[in-house]
Amino acid sequence: MFRSYLRQLAARPVASSYTSLLVLLSSSAFADAAPKHFEDSGYSMNIGFDTPMSTIAGLTDWAKEINHVYGITAWITAAIFFVVAIPVIVAIYKFRVKPGDSDDIPPKQVHGNVLLELTWTIGPVILLLFIAVPTWQVIFRQYREPAKDALIVEVVGHQWWWEFRYPSLGITTANELYLPENKEVLFQISSADVIHSFWIPQFGGKVDALPRPKGEFNTMIMVTPPVPDANKVGGLLYQGQCVELCGLSHALMRFNVSLRTQDEFDRWAKAYNNAPVVATEAQRKGEQVFNQCMGCHTISGTVSATVPGDKIGPNLTNFGSRSYLGAGTRRNTSENLAEWIDNPEAIKPGSLMPKLGLSKEDIAAVSAYIRQSTAKSF
Ligand code: CUA
Repeated sequence: MFRSYLRQLAARPVASSYTSLLVLLSSSAFADAAPKHFEDSGYSMNIGFDTPMSTIAGLTDWAKEINHVYGITAWITAAIFFVVAIPVIVAIYKFRVKPGDSDDIPPKQVHGNVLLELTWTIGPVILLLFIAVPTWQVIFRQYREPAKDALIVEVVGHQWWWEFRYPSLGITTANELYLPENKEVLFQISSADVIHSFWIPQFGGKVDALPRPKGEFNTMIMVTPPVPDANKVGGLLYQGQCVELCGLSHALMRFNVSLRTQDEFDRWAKAYNNAPVVATEAQRKGEQVFNQCMGCHTISGTVSATVPGDKIGPNLTNFGSRSYLGAGTRRNTSENLAEWIDNPEAIKPGSLMPKLGLSKEDIAAVSAYIRQSTAKSF
């Protein structure tokens, strides 16, 4: 591990390597302690340079700007460390009590040295300006007017899942955020209950989701990175996580970012609200069972979409196309969905979804209905 760290050290700016060392030291401490939930979900608990929760290999303009400021800060603090530590070490050695010294002679006292006092006042001020000016620049850039064709995504935190709305596309989805590549995106972030915090580590900083009156939100703006060449078809998933302690299942309040080519994104958006295809006997039965779920969940193009009011559960339109369920807690498989419906509390402690007491057959049917998808292959 240390060898690979040294290799990275050679390949990256000192600032990043400095953080990397801290990350490596801490990761080795808990890499093996991953609870079962994390393994089930396929989430990686390995922490390193390019792994999903790494902030070092920033992909968006926003992430790179933050790393730039971070780099300057790390260089300056490293310099301060040496400027202080080296004289201290020299002084400890040079002025130590030697045999024969009397140990009650105080050192020569210095008072009112104008040059010294000016130096240690002005020096830090200049250093702080070197940190402050780039910081202000990044902050002001973050609050710029979005481009005319920027994609607006409303992000709403709920205990414990994420709602994503695309007002220009008429789409509401949950826990899997579709984004087109190379596009300016303005996130309008708020909360339906308590304070959450929206974070896609590889895409940049965190912004709090606050419970505020309708129409008030915090914003975050970024240009999405390109889809890597190897993933032009099907896109690539990035991980997101709530980073404000928001209750029992805060750690299980995750989401995914599906980064797509513009073409795939457009196809997804076009097909998203299509009514589900109900083809098999199980799906027909599941459609009936789903009537019990309509108070909390919506599937576009069905009766459930006509139930008025804000639903407290995630929108389940095109649920079959999502990679994970339970806000990134488990992979989206029939078995995991059945387990979830049977007893949500077992997977996500404190979940607002009650144990419905459905029979095994009803669970299988409703799972077949929910997991069918009109837009599985974009
Ligand atoms: Cu939401 Cu932590």
